[in-house]
Amino acid sequence: MSDQSLRRGPQPAPACAMVIFGGSGDLTKRLVVPALYNLADQGLLPERFALVGADRLAMDSAGWQCQLHDFIETMISSGRSEFAAKSIRADVWQKLGHAMHYVEGDFLKDELYETLAQKLATLDESDQLGGNVLFYLAVPDRFFGPIVDRLGKHGLVREERGWQRVVIEKPFGHDLASAKALNAQILKSLKEEQIFRIDHFLGKETVQNIMAVRFANGLFEPIWNRDRIDHVQITVSEDIGIEHRGAFYEKTGALRDMVPNHLFQLVAMTAMEPPVSFSANAVRAKKAEVFGSARPVSPDCAVRGQYGAGSVSGNAVCAYQNEADVAAGSAVETFVALKLTIDNWRWAGVPFYLRTGKRLPRRYTEIAIRFKHAPFALFEETHGEAIEADWLVLEIQPDEAIRLHFNAKRPGPYLVLDDVSMNFKYSDWFNQAPAVGYETLLYDCFIGDGTLFQRADQIEAAWAVVQPLLDAWSTPAKTDFPNYAAGSEGPEAADELLRRDGRQWRPIRPASRD
Ligand code: BG6
Repeated sequence: MSDQSLRRGPQPAPACAMVIFGGSGDLTKRLVVPALYNLADQGLLPERFALVGADRLAMDSAGWQCQLHDFIETMISSGRSEFAAKSIRADVWQKLGHAMHYVEGDFLKDELYETLAQKLATLDESDQLGGNVLFYLAVPDRFFGPIVDRLGKHGLVREERGWQRVVIEKPFGHDLASAKALNAQILKSLKEEQIFRIDHFLGKETVQNIMAVRFANGLFEPIWNRDRIDHVQITVSEDIGIEHRGAFYEKTGALRDMVPNHLFQLVAMTAMEPPVSFSANAVRAKKAEVFGSARPVSPDCAVRGQYGAGSVSGNAVCAYQNEADVAAGSAVETFVALKLTIDNWRWAGVPFYLRTGKRLPRRYTEIAIRFKHAPFALFEETHGEAIEADWLVLEIQPDEAIRLHFNAKRPGPYLVLDDVSMNFKYSDWFNQAPAVGYETLLYDCFIGDGTLFQRADQIEAAWAVVQPLLDAWSTPAKTDFPNYAAGSEGPEAADELLRRDGRQWRPIRPASRD
């Protein structure tokens, strides 16, 4: 959602070249190029476009095209809902495939940048790309700084002609100090407006919809504050384990992998003040303020967990410690729950409880807003103890939905209250264009709209909030790991975290009437 697209409706993006560092990698295959295919399918890819894959693997352009064609064909023919057709569309592929070029080289060697400079100059002249280049760093994070240094050194991001932008994937740093150092390093070669720090959660339709729900309706905003809201619960539950990423996960853990980035994006959308416009700087300033006023989380307000063996959706699965590339006795967390306090005028006294974990009962993400109880004097004679407070639930995935749970009288001669719900499901109302989730984000990079990307100050403020936990959890403490069975709703200590505040988590398993 951008100011420009709101006003004009979608148009093909302007002419440019796109260079993907890590062109033969997994992210490029699974997400970036399929998203470009969908943009081409929707007529949103630039009409004059060149796509250059750069990587260490020896390959030529024809080989790269073939590899990606076959990969996307397999995704499409296996019936994946991210694509509109049942097989790859020749006219769409022709547009994309013909634009593809491959350059082989080492990210740390000058030769690659010399070759790229030549390649880009040739393409710019033949395809009239206006000097515009989007560099996408789909590489392990240790290469982010060195690649940007070399782009600077070889004059590839000087913006003397056209624009040059750099997309940086997650993780942006692994703590506050490293995020600051990386920002300082890349800001030597780039201006802040050239940097697009991506968080794919912001590509999810319902996440962008939070701003529309809050700010386009007179209904919600007046009650969106400490006078009416008791607390907020944000759950990002995953049924998968760590898949084949044991080595990565052992260095990362659930806190770094999910909280200061994905969960905090959901917090920011929920808690931010209304921006003066949807311009990138207006929105990002309001989001950064949320973390500027959030208190650093103290270790007593957080719980970590690690899954043991168990069963998910009826399948037996092993403990984290028995996954490939995981150390026996590992103290790395696969689950985090925490209480976040936002000390500002709107949210003082309204805790935000966050939890995320692997091997929970199902893939499910929601933001649940719990409203304060009405004064129940009128209902003292009815089933008072059963009267629920109202909930507004924004479901992010797998269904994109908004549900309002409230109290109503059960039919019959007695006054008995029951909680009922009004449900809005995106798919019931809209014909959604199939998407892998990166389309909006890539399109916004092409048109230079940074609204959905993170600014340096926002990233650093988010790391500052979790830094006390990173410090406390960095020394292999004596843990009781594993402390939750795969397929359960997390460790008992997470329930205790809310119980001591007189609250409880919403169930992750679907309620029978939802
Ligand atoms: C990634 C994390 O950034 O997000 C993964 O590294 C996680 O561990 C994934 O599984 C979740 O994203 P999504 O879109 O599948 O909910």
